[in-house]
Amino acid sequence: MANDQEKEAAARASLRFVNDGDIVGLGSGSTAECAIRLLGERLKSGLRIRGIPTSVRSKELAASLGIPLTTLDDYQQIDVTIDGADEFDPELRLIKGGGGALLREKIIASASKKVVIVADSSKQVQVLGKFPMPVEVIPFAQALIANKITALGASVTLRQYVDENPFVTDDGHRILDCRFGQIPDPPTLAHTLSDMPGVVEHGLFINMVNVVLMGKGDEVMEFRRLKPRD
Ligand code: 5RP
Repeated sequence: MANDQEKEAAARASLRFVNDGDIVGLGSGSTAECAIRLLGERLKSGLRIRGIPTSVRSKELAASLGIPLTTLDDYQQIDVTIDGADEFDPELRLIKGGGGALLREKIIASASKKVVIVADSSKQVQVLGKFPMPVEVIPFAQALIANKITALGASVTLRQYVDENPFVTDDGHRILDCRFGQIPDPPTLAHTLSDMPGVVEHGLFINMVNVVLMGKGDEVMEFRRLKPRD
């Protein structure tokens, strides 16, 4: 349960980036959900925010806590987003999408003035790629794209539910989990994947993050990327 304490500590530390009146991107996954719960508590003591959730699950959680919600239709600029990650490297590049919400997460991050990532210490790596990189695809193209990514040297698995039906994202797509091993050049791989017709989005987040808050034992370590989103 050490990881749970680290997640909680990182989530708690993220609240200092949220100001009264902010539009807040609400991330997905267990660590982001800790932050959503803590925001719900802060609301009771007077904090006023509006949240834009990155997944149906986060939306339901936020609504159940009474957090006022809005959408990108009403606000195209988000003050701060708090989200989790599956891996981060020293340049604060991420792999995300373990929970299957990477598309909306990346859209929300791209619209955010500040992106704060909350994580436990198992997420810190020197080189991305230990975690299978999720690639969101339209079902029509899934076999084609799986072959293309296999040809790049990855081992590719279609994500499934326990009943072996394909996992379906909030936007009706599928996820290919791609084991590349170490990814020495994330930007080049990101471009290669984005150039494949049928790929909706991939789980590499590059130049999107301002701060990573990582719980480690009893402490929270803060990592900052200074440019260009400082
Ligand atoms: C969901 C994500 C999550 O942020 C990521 O999987 C981390 O989740 P957790 O905080 O449960 O470890 O990218 O798409």
